Amino acid sequence: PADILGARRNSSGFLWSDPVSADPVRATMERALQSPAEAMPLIGGAPREGAVEVAFDPSDRSRAIGRVSVAGEAETEEALEIAVKAQAKWDRLGGEGRAEILEKAADLFEKNRSELMALIVREAGKTLPTAVGEVREAVDFLRYYAAEARAHFSGPVRLPGPTGESNELTLHGKGVFACISPWNFPLAIFTGQIAGALAAGNAVLAKPAETTPLVAMAGTKLLLEAGVPGDVLHLLPGSGPVIGKVMFADPRLAGAIFTGSTRTATAINRALAMRDGPIATVIAETGGQNAMIVDSTALPEQVARDAVMSAFDSAGQRCSALRVLFVQEDVADKMLDMIIGFSEELAIGDPFDPATDIGPVINETARQNLSNHAEKMTRRAKLLKALPLGPQHENGFFFAPHIFEIGAISDLEGEVFGPVMHVVRYGAGQLDKVCEAVNSTGFGLTLGVHSRIEATAAFVRERVRAGNIYVNRNQIGAVVGVQPFGGEGLSGTGPKAGGPQYLHRLALERTYTVNTT
Ligand code: NAD
Ligand code: ALA
Repeated sequence: PADILGARRNSSGFLWSDPVSADPVRATMERALQSPAEAMPLIGGAPREGAVEVAFDPSDRSRAIGRVSVAGEAETEEALEIAVKAQAKWDRLGGEGRAEILEKAADLFEKNRSELMALIVREAGKTLPTAVGEVREAVDFLRYYAAEARAHFSGPVRLPGPTGESNELTLHGKGVFACISPWNFPLAIFTGQIAGALAAGNAVLAKPAETTPLVAMAGTKLLLEAGVPGDVLHLLPGSGPVIGKVMFADPRLAGAIFTGSTRTATAINRALAMRDGPIATVIAETGGQNAMIVDSTALPEQVARDAVMSAFDSAGQRCSALRVLFVQEDVADKMLDMIIGFSEELAIGDPFDPATDIGPVINETARQNLSNHAEKMTRRAKLLKALPLGPQHENGFFFAPHIFEIGAISDLEGEVFGPVMHVVRYGAGQLDKVCEAVNSTGFGLTLGVHSRIEATAAFVRERVRAGNIYVNRNQIGAVVGVQPFGGEGLSGTGPKAGGPQYLHRLALERTYTVNTT
């Protein structure tokens, strides 16, 4: 209802099973894919040619989908120089002015949804439903942070003081932020970081993942078209270490918003801490060793559906994905039969096909890492299921869902970023031990609980350190403003993306006191 949601509404969904709405969208997507896409550095609003690389479709590596010019050290230095000069003007525009531009960008994203989805499917290998989710989440971030900017950055907050004195508090951007995003949410997270930084009054150097610059380019063009000044937002496709080395050594960079692996977050934090100059702000959203705990009262059909979706949707390439399923031993065989049955229904294939549930993984390195893990697990653990692949998968980076039973969560060496579910059985009365085991990983991103006993969910909630806990449902697909997303410990610094604290971390406060006597 309007009184709960306020003026802002989350972006609407889309049904692929309804041909009346789906067919025109697919036709526009196909048309968009007929001409090769291009990505290049955008500095001061102008495109730059650099060293050119060809981008290929991960579901069919023989299909070239576009060309990419990458930024190097010189482009990064130039973009930073321009952004530093432009930021104060953007900050002075105020929350209302920035909100209007971000809302216009949200409208443009929705208007160009089919073209954006086409690139998301072909460049990142995401399925049609997850591509819709990407665009919706990007739109939601734009509108959510616009609303936050309007509410908190539009004018001074008057503070109490003695007679003859007026006191005000205002919020301002901190300066220039590096926004460094991963490939698994090439539009949503890319846009969310930028929208947050811009909404709070900062200028942005956006560094998308090496594997998804085409989606980033399409999103950036729409942001610029909406009215974000070209000297305030710069796009730097290219190598993380090359671009990062320049950005993080420079004392003029206010900080970094990063989403990706825990290892890269640590490297960025270290580089920023080592430079001379002001202390930088770092927001890091990283990986997880996400568990789902299933007790003997849980509904088997619901568990099967939610566990399979949490572990295998997006080919398991979500930071939120289920990695370790803890199942109470007296119901374990029944639950596992049903989970295996559900997983056997999954169709693996071309993500552009509406029948496909699971597309490719992002590249050969990812596929190889997963194969190595599966080989090791097959020797050390019990393989419960490996879905078959066929000749139709040979041209792409496909890795089929696997389910292994292991002895303990500590048998895993870290996050396995793909469609692999690990199962651990636990005995009745051992729930506290399960909670301790989950915490022992050091990660704290998502947690699923399946139980029909409220006290069991409450017991787990009090003990497990996890940023997003879901009871009797799947544990993926957090919605902006509904489940603000982000973890703790090795999973990130907070504040949560799509939550009320986010812009405040990117802002500084100033007071203004006037003697009025
Ligand atoms: P990654 O850390 O390899 O790369 C992420 C980004 O960092 C890329 O843009 C990359 O170019 C850049 N980068 C790499 N080294 C850099 C450096 N030295 N300096 C500056 N930038 C650098 O991660 P990935 O493989 O792209 O993404 C997968 C990881 O991201 C997984 O661990 C996943 O759990 C995590 N992730 C977390 C969230 C979340 O919200 N918590 C969301 C999505 C993905
Ligand atoms: N926000 C994404 C999810 O919840 C990562 O799946």
